[in-house]
Amino acid sequence: MKRTLLIDTDTASDDAVALIMALRAPDVQVAAITMVAGNVGVDQATRNARYTVELCQADVPVFIGAEKPLLRPYQNATWFHGRDGLGEHNYPAPRRAPEKMHAVDAIIDTIEANPGLVMVTLGPLTNIALALARKPGITKKVSRCVVMGGAPCCEGNVTPAAEFNIWVDPEAARMVFLSGMQCELIGWQLSRFEAVINQQDIDRILALETTLGNFAIECNSHARDAYKIQTGEDGICLPDPVAMSIALDPTIGTEWSEHYLDVETTNELTRGMTVVDRLNVADDERNRDTWKQSIEAGRKKICWKLENKRWKEALLQALR
Ligand code: BDR
Ligand code: CA
Repeated sequence: MKRTLLIDTDTASDDAVALIMALRAPDVQVAAITMVAGNVGVDQATRNARYTVELCQADVPVFIGAEKPLLRPYQNATWFHGRDGLGEHNYPAPRRAPEKMHAVDAIIDTIEANPGLVMVTLGPLTNIALALARKPGITKKVSRCVVMGGAPCCEGNVTPAAEFNIWVDPEAARMVFLSGMQCELIGWQLSRFEAVINQQDIDRILALETTLGNFAIECNSHARDAYKIQTGEDGICLPDPVAMSIALDPTIGTEWSEHYLDVETTNELTRGMTVVDRLNVADDERNRDTWKQSIEAGRKKICWKLENKRWKEALLQALR
């Protein structure tokens, strides 16, 4: 029997590659793709997701969701992914229209219809927070909620403290992490250094001579340049596909631990910081009041290391 996945995404260049990995996994059924504003506006993201689905010759419904964060003005990441989110290569419009149902309703219905499914979030957590606000009971029906997001080592890509997906809508992220859902945090730092798709990896992918392989490299051209400027590292950094590889095979994550977790929402300097109780001191009497909600929500799984060789093999396999 196939495993069921629900993917929430702000589809830009690395999200597109993550979608390919899920859609090409032989033992996975992607029940729905739900769209949120993040890297690009929600309409552009929806167009990008539908284009990717069609490139994979898949038949998966795509639902439009939140246009902006719960409380804050929306801010995009076109400086990183290009104006269209896919490196500005003028990809044609997809043929199939998005679904009429709102993404938040689709999330609730899909979880209700597929108890035990794995949810993978690749963008700001606005849609998920709205779904939880409407139907808190769905937390118990999700077996794993794999979140690409956060900077548990305080190594942010938007501010020194915060990673983009959490920073865009910190209130939503906080609601999700304090909800009691089984969350797994795949932080941005995991996709750096050895995890980056270097020139040798790029050559291997292009040597496949497949539509998906060529697209994966081409649509990340702008992101590659932006990443070089940001970090000095040469290559394609793929946070969403790294998270997807771990969602599809948790053993690719080789070092995990469980901690209480909270998100900073009140301080501008540390907005969106994922505060991880690494030494398990939240339970001490002096912290217990401040950390009450996190303690009630339970510890979340944080991934600290992955096996880069296997993540890259999984990527190559999907692009064949
Ligand atoms: C995350 O933000 C976006 O730019 C990427 O798609 C990824 O989901 C990395 O911080
Ligand atoms: Ca994303």
